[in-house]
Amino acid sequence: MSDNLLEVERIAKRYGGVQAVKDVSFNLARGEILGLLGPNGAGKTTAFNMIAGFVAADSGRIRLNGRDITGKRPWGVCKSGLARTFQLSKPFGGMTTRENLIVGALVKTNDRKYSVERADELLDFLGMREIADVDADNLTAFERRKVELGRALSTDPALLLMDEVVAGATPQEALLMVQLIKQVRDRGVTILIIEHVMKVIMGLSDRVIVMHLGELIANGAPTEVVRQPDVLKAYFGDDYAGADA
Ligand SMILES: Nc1ncnc2c1ncn2[C@@H]1O[C@H](COP(=O)(O)OP(=O)(O)OP(=O)(O)O)[C@@H](O)[C@H]1O
Ligand SMILES: [Mg+2]
Repeated sequence: MSDNLLEVERIAKRYGGVQAVKDVSFNLARGEILGLLGPNGAGKTTAFNMIAGFVAADSGRIRLNGRDITGKRPWGVCKSGLARTFQLSKPFGGMTTRENLIVGALVKTNDRKYSVERADELLDFLGMREIADVDADNLTAFERRKVELGRALSTDPALLLMDEVVAGATPQEALLMVQLIKQVRDRGVTILIIEHVMKVIMGLSDRVIVMHLGELIANGAPTEVVRQPDVLKAYFGDDYAGADA
């Protein structure tokens, strides 16, 4: 079996005149935390959506655990072992925290008793006992992010995709989220994470990839990638400080 849990091969997506993602390829090793960076509009979420089955790729191949998942719908991708969270968190409103987690667990099983046990275990893991019976509509933004993370984990994923986990969080909340994500990985989950907050990405990622205008422009160790001229240019323009200084 390949060491790579995820293999992405030349995926592409065009929206009208915009080539949102252009022949992007990368692998994700088992147990790795891979950060996906890039300025606004780089194509990060579109790439995510193709991998998770929310958007059909125009071309390219996606393999999870050695199996081709290209063209599968989100439900099928999720059953294959991939869960995701959204840039704008979307827990199920009108349901409590516990119910959100139970619904997630039921993706993989019809065993109601197991799904409740799984939900309760995740309530403890994420420190959400106090909000277990609160409707997701009445939670703070950060609590909603945690519920969404819990719902993703309740499907027992091999691979977790997270799109901007600390947007709008306080510094303390961001720190808490970083610790949680590390603990998630220590439980054997491989993670692909989009995040704009550099401190979070640098503290979490084993490796980072960078997208710009739909293309992959860098792939390597976090501290090395953020020094590459192409990457600095993508963020700060041609005249970024340091180009000539
Ligand atoms: N559903 C869509 N219809 C038309 N254009 C789209 C659609 N989704 C994305 N795009 C365009 O594709 C490009 C990439 O967008 P995408 O959301 O993937 O970027 P991103 O890297 O996630 O940006 P951000 O950091 O702002 O979230 C942008 O030019 C965007 O306007
Ligand atoms: Mg995005």
